[in-house]
Amino acid sequence: MTTKKIGDVILDIKNISLRFGGVKALTDISFNVKEHEIRSIIGPNGAGKSSMLNCINGVYTPTEGSITFRGKTFDHMNSRQVAEMGVARTFQNLALFKGMSVLDNIMSGRNLKIKSNIFLQALRIGPAEKEEIQHREYVEQIIDFLEIQAFRKTPVGQLPYGLQKRVDLGRALAMEPQVLLLDEPMAGMNVEEKQDMSRFILDVNDEFGTTIVLIEHDMGVVMDISDRVVVLDYGKKIGDGSPEEVRNNEDVIRAYLGSSH
Ligand SMILES: Nc1ncnc2c1ncn2[C@@H]1O[C@H](COP(=O)(O)OP(=O)(O)O)[C@@H](O)[C@H]1O
Ligand SMILES: [Mg+2]
Repeated sequence: MTTKKIGDVILDIKNISLRFGGVKALTDISFNVKEHEIRSIIGPNGAGKSSMLNCINGVYTPTEGSITFRGKTFDHMNSRQVAEMGVARTFQNLALFKGMSVLDNIMSGRNLKIKSNIFLQALRIGPAEKEEIQHREYVEQIIDFLEIQAFRKTPVGQLPYGLQKRVDLGRALAMEPQVLLLDEPMAGMNVEEKQDMSRFILDVNDEFGTTIVLIEHDMGVVMDISDRVVVLDYGKKIGDGSPEEVRNNEDVIRAYLGSSH
């Protein structure tokens, strides 16, 4: 493996707390993500991992703390603004249009990029037609990259689960994100599907230079592909460092031995 170049901090999470009524989902969490990194978030169920991603991409507004993206700090940001800034995500529970084809699902990720007037688009005239062709070409490249050419026209609901997860990744990639947030992209997959997904994540990181924040339960995968790992437990950060450091962290070992997930 060649040593890759990690850049400056692209995402800086500072003192984030999040409460739902009496539930403290996150308590005073700080960590950063550097450009070109694969940064994993691990922890037992209910630790606050998905909530953390939801704070980063504007679905939840943190009760306290701030998030700085490329030097711009925000404490209130809606999902669309975050997406426009170049942050895309996939979901723990798939959010695809099951009746629509693979091609159209991935195209739907492209909507933010489509600039021309919606009426011109509907009529497919002038700049709208040219733009549509360019977007289709980009989507076809993603389809090739993810090796799902054979299923371009297949309704997503008819595909095996592993391939649906791959389409979800494609939809996120269609946004040409600088940062990709992946919430358990390998959950429910068999060993072979996990290997495929790991390879695609590494390839996205390598070929497009995309920074990746990954939530994953499979420790083998996490230790294999992450540059750094942050560990949450009951909404608190209990570890942060290289896979090696995290693996040897007493608090982390205790949290994992004491939990059944
Ligand atoms: N929308 C919500 N409303 C109320 N409680 C929530 C909500 N989302 C998450 N929680 C609670 O916050 C805690 C962390 O959940 P979550 O972020 O989903 O953990 P993880 O992804 O690590 O399994 C849990 O106690 C969960 O029940
Ligand atoms: Mg979760």
